[in-house]
Amino acid sequence: MVDDEADFLNAVSRRLEKRGIPPVLAGSGEDGLALLAETPMDVVVLDVKMPGMGGLEALRRIKDSWPDMEVILLTGNVSAADGVEGIKQGAFDYITKPIEIDHLAGKIRQAWDKRRRKQEQEEQRQFQEKMEQQMTAMDRLASLGTLSTGVAHEINNPLAMMREAAGYMRLVLEKEDMVQWPGKTGLAKGLEKIEKGIERIRRITHLLLGFVRPADHACARTDVKELVSESIELVTKEMQGKQIAVDRKMDDTEGVAWTDPYALRQVMINLLTNAVHAIQREGTITVSLSEAEGCLAIAVSDTGVGIPGENLNKIFEPFFSTKPSDKGTGLGLYVSRGIVERLDGRIGVKSAVGRGTTFTVEIPVCRRGDAVECVDENTCDEILTKIKEIGGDDEDTRKSAGG
Ligand SMILES: Nc1ncnc2c1ncn2[C@@H]1O[C@H](COP(=O)(O)OP(=O)(O)OP(=O)(O)O)[C@@H](O)[C@H]1O
Ligand SMILES: [Mg+2]
Repeated sequence: MVDDEADFLNAVSRRLEKRGIPPVLAGSGEDGLALLAETPMDVVVLDVKMPGMGGLEALRRIKDSWPDMEVILLTGNVSAADGVEGIKQGAFDYITKPIEIDHLAGKIRQAWDKRRRKQEQEEQRQFQEKMEQQMTAMDRLASLGTLSTGVAHEINNPLAMMREAAGYMRLVLEKEDMVQWPGKTGLAKGLEKIEKGIERIRRITHLLLGFVRPADHACARTDVKELVSESIELVTKEMQGKQIAVDRKMDDTEGVAWTDPYALRQVMINLLTNAVHAIQREGTITVSLSEAEGCLAIAVSDTGVGIPGENLNKIFEPFFSTKPSDKGTGLGLYVSRGIVERLDGRIGVKSAVGRGTTFTVEIPVCRRGDAVECVDENTCDEILTKIKEIGGDDEDTRKSAGG
């Protein structure tokens, strides 16, 4: 409430306070503006006739800086025309002095109501906009799902035939009269590669067919070095048109973990794809592997554009993407974090704008929860050795793994 007559201000202030509207007071237009710049307010009650900056000038400045602010003008009896002028300039209303306190309180409430309604409408608009964006992303995801499911389905039939044929070849190869055959070893090796390949494709089609279904929890002895190399192979296509050097620093560890290799590879592909996208023309991607305290750490660094600080806590949210809509859905990191947490691991990020980004994935070398699932005898023995190696003295885990 801005008025140069101190007695009037104090008297009105006390009476407004009693009606549940405690005002903040200013003795001049200049003071009023300074106060508004410091503390956001909802409604301003402004005297028109003041020495120095007059009420209409103050109104103009308020509307310039805070267009949504509601302003009620107080005019003298003889200067009602100022009130009309004020309304033209965007004032909510004007009241002529001497004022009737309940009338003023009523006007303030109306002005405040109008403001609140505007805010609600704005919030609703923003919410709707966000929902629409999410819907588009969902639509895209749904069509991606449909497409990959269709392709996976098509692949399934020839794949089944290949599996059957490979199975038959295996049977023939294992027959007694083949024992002496000199070409057996070579053929067996080739067949093993085929079987492995088929198994891999089968996993992929299963993943795609169960696109939205959470993946199963199969764990296996995983050569993470090999897995990283495969993942790099898979993203080389994305690198076309850019000068990207890939640096591997993986000599410090054996790089073996008991984990879900397919899920981990999905994470690697997501991180590597992001790294490739972050490099505009030329740069380096470094993948390093290290092992400490029962954990394998994989770091994917790039010399790309970096992530601004204000985005760092948003990048793991679903549908957060700064890429054009045909390039990113904003699900890569969200899904990756979900996977890493399911593998009992952690994912972290460090970034500097203009210098680059490093994502770190830490997974346990041996997942305790999976000990029961990896059931054949050899794997059980290997698990037990691993548990001992990493200093596991957990009797329960050992018992359940052994059982
Ligand atoms: N290595 C990186 N360098 C710079 N920005 C990155 C990097 N990785 C992620 N980001 C930022 O985080 C955002 C979210 O990444 P995320 O992988 O979740 O989605 P996306 O890559 O946009 O889309 P997609 O679903 O295809 O992966 C990206 O849009 C980008 O702004
Ligand atoms: Mg991505």
